[in-house]
Amino acid sequence: MSAVPNAPPATIPHHVAIIMDGNGRWAAQRGLPRIEGHERGTDNIRRITFAAGELGIKCLTLWAFSTENWRRPPDEIRGIMRILGEVILRETEELHRQGAQLRHIGSLDGLPDDTRRAVLEAIELTKANNKLVLTLAFNYGGRQEMVEAIRALVAAGLTADEIDEPAIARFLYTRDLPDPDLIVRTSGEHRMSNFLLWQAAYAELFFTPILWPDFGPDDLCAAVAEFGRRERRFGRVSAELVSDPTA
Ligand code: IPE
Ligand code: IPE
Ligand code: MG
Repeated sequence: MSAVPNAPPATIPHHVAIIMDGNGRWAAQRGLPRIEGHERGTDNIRRITFAAGELGIKCLTLWAFSTENWRRPPDEIRGIMRILGEVILRETEELHRQGAQLRHIGSLDGLPDDTRRAVLEAIELTKANNKLVLTLAFNYGGRQEMVEAIRALVAAGLTADEIDEPAIARFLYTRDLPDPDLIVRTSGEHRMSNFLLWQAAYAELFFTPILWPDFGPDDLCAAVAEFGRRERRFGRVSAELVSDPTA
C-alpha cells in the first residue's frame, strides 16, 4: 500500500533535509521518559524514508544528533547512541532491498565502537544503490564541518588563489551531495541550530509545529506541496517582473 495518500505534488525537491526535533516533548506530553520519544522518533525514520522514496525524492538527509547534543545528560546520550546502533542493524537490510544508499555526515569520532561499526557496515553494504540517497547526519554540526574543511584544505596545500566556493564545497562532508532544496524542521522551533550552514544558502525552509514522532507521510507531502508553491529566485528578479511591460 502506498505511504503517500494523495496525488503527489507536481514539483518534487531533489534533496530534502529534515531537522527531526521534538522527541523529548512528544514523550513529556505522554508522561513518558525522554528516551521513549527517541525510540518513537527513530521508528519514524523508516516511515518517512519510504514515503520520500515513493514521492520521488532522490536525496533525503535526516539529522539525528548534533555536535551540541553532547551537552545533554549522559544517560540520554547513551540511550540515543544505543537506539541508533540498533536501528541501523535492524533496518539496513530492508533499506538495501529498497535500493537506498546509506551515507553519514558528521564525525564518527566519539561514538561507541559498535555504533560506528554498524554505520560503516551499512554504508559499505549499500554503496552501489541509487534509488534514494539516505544521509544520516549524526554527531553533525555545521561549524565543525567548516573547521574540518578548512583544516583539510590547508593540509592539502591549496593557495589563497585556489580557494573559491567550489573548492570549499569539495572539502565539506557533503562533497558528494547536492545542496538541499527543502529543509524541514519539526516541533515548532524556527532556527537552524547549526545545521548545513553552508549548504542551506538557498534552501527553502519549512517549519511545522508537529513533533517528529508524529510527522507522517501526509505532512511530508504538505511540505513538498508548499515547496512547489515557492518561487526560487537565487538573487534574480522574478520571471513575472521581467515579463511585465511596465516594469
Ligand atoms: C530531537 O528531539 C532529537 C535530538 C536532538 C537528539 P529532542 O530531544 O530535541 O526533543 P525536544 O526538542 O526536547 O522536544
Ligand atoms: C537540533 O535539535 C538537533 C537535532 C534535531 C538532531 P535540538 O533540540 O538539539 O536544537 P535546539 O537545542 O533546540 O536548538
Ligand atoms: Mg529539540
